[in-house]
Formats: sequence, C-alpha cells, structure tokens
Amino acid sequence: MEENWVLRWVLVVGVMCWCGEGIGVNWGTQATHKLPPDTVVQLLKDNGIQKVKLFDADDSTMSALAGTGIEVMVAIPNIQLLEMNDFGRAKQWVKKNVTRYTFNGGVNIKYVAVGNEPFLKSYNNSFLNITFPALQNIQNALNDAGVGDTIKATVPLNADVYQSPENNPVPSAGIFRPDITGLMTQIVQFLSKNALKSVGFGDLPILVGEVGWPTEGDKNANVGNALRFYNGLLPRLAGNRGTPCRPGHIEVYLFGLIDEDAKSIAPGNFERHWGIFRYDGQPKFPMDLSGQNQNKFLIGAQNVKYLAPRWCMFNPNAKDLTSLPDNINYACTFGDCTALGYGSSCNNLDANGNASYAFNMYFQVQNQNPMACNFQGLAKITTDNISTPTCNFIIQIVSSSVSSLIPSLVAFLFVSLFMILFW
Ligand SMILES: *[C@@H]1O[C@H](CO)[C@@H](O)[C@H](O)[C@H]1NC(C)=O
Ligand SMILES: *[C@@H]1O[C@H](CO)[C@@H](O)[C@H](O)[C@H]1NC(C)=O
Ligand SMILES: *[C@@H]1O[C@H](CO)[C@@H](O)[C@H](O)[C@H]1NC(C)=O
Ligand SMILES: *[C@@H]1O[C@H](CO)[C@@H](O)[C@H](O)[C@H]1NC(C)=O
Ligand SMILES: *[C@@H]1O[C@H](CO)[C@@H](O)[C@H](O)[C@H]1NC(C)=O
Repeated sequence: MEENWVLRWVLVVGVMCWCGEGIGVNWGTQATHKLPPDTVVQLLKDNGIQKVKLFDADDSTMSALAGTGIEVMVAIPNIQLLEMNDFGRAKQWVKKNVTRYTFNGGVNIKYVAVGNEPFLKSYNNSFLNITFPALQNIQNALNDAGVGDTIKATVPLNADVYQSPENNPVPSAGIFRPDITGLMTQIVQFLSKNALKSVGFGDLPILVGEVGWPTEGDKNANVGNALRFYNGLLPRLAGNRGTPCRPGHIEVYLFGLIDEDAKSIAPGNFERHWGIFRYDGQPKFPMDLSGQNQNKFLIGAQNVKYLAPRWCMFNPNAKDLTSLPDNINYACTFGDCTALGYGSSCNNLDANGNASYAFNMYFQVQNQNPMACNFQGLAKITTDNISTPTCNFIIQIVSSSVSSLIPSLVAFLFVSLFMILFW
C-alpha cells in the first residue's frame, strides 16, 4: 500500500436512503471570492448533480437551491453545538434554517448535519460531551416540527473515529476508537431508533459524506493522481457494487465542489485545492460522473465575470531588496501562495518569480486595488500574462461578497487508496 495518499474520508452515520441515486458534492464557501450561489446552482444542474452537502445554512445559498429539487444536507457548525444543547435554541435553529424552507417549491432538505467531524482528535475532546445532546435536540425539534419523517439529523464523522485491526483492513472488521466507544454506541442506538423502524443495529445506514483528492499542495496532490483516483472511484459507485458487507448503492458526496482559497492550511497546503472545479468554477481535469470514464470535462460555470487582465509582478528595477522577504510573507498571509510549495505547480519558479506570484495573489485578493501592488516599491502592475507553462498567475473573479480569511479547523486523513477501492 502506498503511504501518504492525501485522501479525504468522512462517514455520516444514521442516514436513510430513500434518496435518489447519483453522486453528491460538498459545497464549501471559504473562498475570498465566491461565485454567486445562482451560478453554482446552475453548475450543479448543468452537470446533473442532484445532491449537495453544505457546511451551514446560509440564506443566499438556500434561496438559490429553492425550487431546484436538489437534495440538501444543511449543517450546524461545531461552534454552535453547545447552544444546541438547549432544546429551545435547537427548535429556533430548525425553524429558521429548516422549516422556513420546507414549503412546496422550497428547498428539498434531507438531512441536518450536527457538527462537522466533532470527534476529530485534534479538537482535544472540545465537542465530546455536547454533540450527542445536540443531535438528540435537533432530531426531536425536527420531529416536533412535523418534518422528522423526511429530514434526519446526523453527525459527519472523520474516519478517525474508527480503527481497523492491522491484519484485517476491511471496515466491517473495525471497531470504534476506544476513547469514544461508549459515546458512539449511544449515538448509533439513538439514530437507529429514528431511522427506519426495521433497521437493526447492524444495518444502520451509512453514507460517505466526504471523499476526494486534492490537486495541489502536496507531492501526491496533483491533477494526475486526482484523475486516477476518480477514475477508480466513479465506475465503482456507478456499478452500485457497494462493499462486501453492504452490497448495493452507497450514497457518496465528493469533496469538494470548488477550491477554497481562504481555508486554514493547518492540515496542509492541499486544503485549499479539493475542488473538482477551480476557484472560478472551471473543471480541472476530465471527469465522468456516470462512471463510464469517458474522457470528457464537466461543464464549467457559465458567465463568470473576471477582473481585468492585470497582474502584479516583482519590479526588476527595484534596488533595495532587504524588505523583500517580509513583503512576500505579508502577501502570502492574505493571498494564497500554496501553489509555491514543494510538489506544487509553481514550485519551479525562480526567486523573482516567487515574489511575483505572491504579489499577484495578494493583488487579486484585493480586487486589483493599485495600492495593493506596491510593496514598498518592490512591485509593479503589468498587462502581460506572466504565467509560465506550469504555473498559472490567476486573475480573480468579480465577487459580490469578499470575505476575510476565516480560520477553519478542518479534518484530513492519510488513507490508502485501497481502503476505498477494496472496502
Ligand atoms: C441558522 O444557521 C446559521 C448557520 O448557517 C446560524 O449561524 C444561525 O444562527 C442559524 N439561525 C438560527 C436562528 O439558529
Ligand atoms: C489541542 O491541544 C494541543 C496541545 O495541548 C494544542 O496545541 C492545540 O492548539 C489544541 N487544539 C485545539 C483545537 O484546542
Ligand atoms: C465529558 O464528560 C465526562 C463525564 O461526565 C467527564 O469525565 C469529561 O471530563 C468531560 N469531558 C470534557 C472534555 O468536557
Ligand atoms: C520559491 O518559494 C518556494 C516556497 O516558499 C521555495 O520552496 C523555493 O525555494 C523558492 N525558490 C527560490 C528560487 O527562491
Ligand atoms: C495566462 O496564460 C496561461 C498560460 O498560458 C493561461 O492558462 C491563462 O488562461 C492566461 N490568463 C489569462 C487571463 O488570459
């Protein structure tokens, strides 16, 4: 087995599958320049994507999804889990973020994800005692609101809740992590009560909430490996082969839809490059969601508006370079320089190229504000495309909402490709 594959792997337990076939996607929005929600929804429709998993319940996103029939998983962020330990507050959340949209012609909500990978080891047990009460309150609030039969609360869990014996890597032979066995058992018991009546403990439905491969930011994260990964995964999903223990259809959400240049890179530089689409909604590599591995690209986002063809570059006439490292550092704090790292597409630039790349990313994040291309006289604006054959110096899109860097505690995993192919 090859080590250090950068594979994302998140399971969601206690989910029922009355839902349609077909692959879902995770729609995260931690980008400095977001595509308008209507554009993204059209992108989903154009590619026949019928299911989407969100990380919140943002009003503009929900409004764009209304009337489309697309199945939606809304989510309660981890920072709101404690509040949801109060039943009144949980009812409020459900009213504002679920039942407000469940009118005829509204949003086709199927699930409420309670937290996002709350038992991740790196969270130091912060959410250990508050997740299960929140889950119970949300499901009870859904039941109270009369939608509990069609909308189910669930918890997305990183695969690190789970351990396989070394000599038997198939998941069905696995056990829950010892420190959370008791809690996981309680959760699974609760979920199975609210799932199909006939469901026994052993066949509680599971869906794969996140699975994917990034294209940048690690030596294994590149377009070639992502293509190889999806070419292995998609035919398997289309074949409805499931796993030896659970044959048949598995519901799967790819991670993710669009690159997110404002995500925390604590897990690694690859964290901003999980999209099957680039930041501007254009496909990165051929992908056939029908699983027939036809060598064709997905349909890209339509009518995307870009800023002017203007770049910021290192000024070769600059004399005093003493402050160059500090300026690059500043640019890379607010702009995304992850493509400069080892194994990434811009790693082969020379020192001036590095500076230009950093300055340009900052300039684009700042919507090409001329003041953002000065860097104490070290930078200048150019209308020449300074991209190299392997390294794209991007032009940002016009964005209605420009957000700042939002640190996110995100999960990632190194799992072998075999785990998904031979589970
Ligand atoms: C609705 O959900 C969002 C998360 O997307 C949250 O910030 C907000 O507080 C929720 N509204 C209520 C009334 O709970
Ligand atoms: C968890 O604990 C470690 C070591 O004490 C600390 O470095 C880290 O910041 C903590 N993480 C969180 C999310 O609190
Ligand atoms: C969770 O609750 C248990 C039992 O009440 C307690 O021993 C533990 O310290 C709590 N953990 C945290 C992180 O609050
Ligand atoms: C360019 O930047 C990258 C990432 O910081 C670094 O690994 C590389 O050595 C730099 N190249 C030069 C020529 O300075
Ligand atoms: C700049 O050149 C690169 C490499 O040829 C190309 O991929 C990119 O689309 C160009 N950018 C613009 C804005 O024309």
